[in-house]
Amino acid sequence: MIKKELCKIISQEEIAKDIFQLTVEAEFVKEIKAPGQFVHIRVDKSFDPLLRRPISISSVDSKNSRFTMIYRKEGKGTSLLAEKGPGILLDILGPLGNGFPVDEVHEGETALLVGGGIGVPPLYELSKQLIAKGIKVVHVLGFQTESAVFYEKEFLENGETYITTVDGSYGSKGFVTDIIKDLEFDSLYTCGPTPMLKAIEKGYGHKKVFLSLEERMGCGVGACFACVCNSSSDINDVSYKKVCSDGPVFRAGEVLI
Ligand code: FES
Repeated sequence: MIKKELCKIISQEEIAKDIFQLTVEAEFVKEIKAPGQFVHIRVDKSFDPLLRRPISISSVDSKNSRFTMIYRKEGKGTSLLAEKGPGILLDILGPLGNGFPVDEVHEGETALLVGGGIGVPPLYELSKQLIAKGIKVVHVLGFQTESAVFYEKEFLENGETYITTVDGSYGSKGFVTDIIKDLEFDSLYTCGPTPMLKAIEKGYGHKKVFLSLEERMGCGVGACFACVCNSSSDINDVSYKKVCSDGPVFRAGEVLI
C-alpha cells in the first residue's frame, strides 16, 4: 500500500561528485515489495519547487525500518534536498512502482545487472536479493568519468563487477555494451539512460531482459499521465503504459523506448 509519511533523515552524505546517499527512517519500509521501487519526495514545504522528486530506493533495512536512496544533485529540487541533515523530517510518498521481478531467475543461474549513472542505485538492493536466492550476479556499471563513480566496493562484495567510464578515466573506456558482449548470463536487469536501454534491448531483447525506465514524473501514482509511454502491444486497445504505476520496470519489448 502507498503511504505518505514524514520520515526522519538518519544520514546524508556526498559519496561522489554531486551524488548523495540519503538514509531515512519510515514506517512504510514494510510495504516495500521489490527492489527497483521508488519514492516521491517533497523537497520543500513551500510550493516552489511544486513537484515532488522521484528517487529510487537503493537498499532496505527492514529490521531498523530504514531505507537508503542515492540521487544526483542537478536542479533546484535536488539541491534543496542535498542541504538537509540528520533529524529533519521529509514528506515522502511511497513505495511506488512495481520493481524488478526477482522470481524470474532461479538458483544456480547467472543474472547480469547493468546500470548507467544514476540508474545504478536500484541495482544494489536487487543484487543483494538475488544473492540471497543463490543466484550468481555479475555487475556492469557505466559512468561518465572517475569523479562520478560510486558503490564499486559495495557491488564487488556481491560479485564480479566491471566499471566503464565514457572518458576512460577509470575502469574500461567506453560503454557498458562493450563489456556485456563478452559475458554469459541467463537474465539481464538494467536501469539507466534511455540510449543505453535502447542499445541493450536491441542487442539482447530476445533474452530475458527487464528494463527500468527513467521518466519525468508528476504525481507518481498513475493519476496525471505525465509519464506515459507507448506500449508495443495493441491487444485489448492498450496503447500506452504509465511508467510510475505500470513500471518503472518493463520486460524488453513491452513498451516502446
Ligand atoms: Fe502521474 Fe505517472 S507520474 S501518471
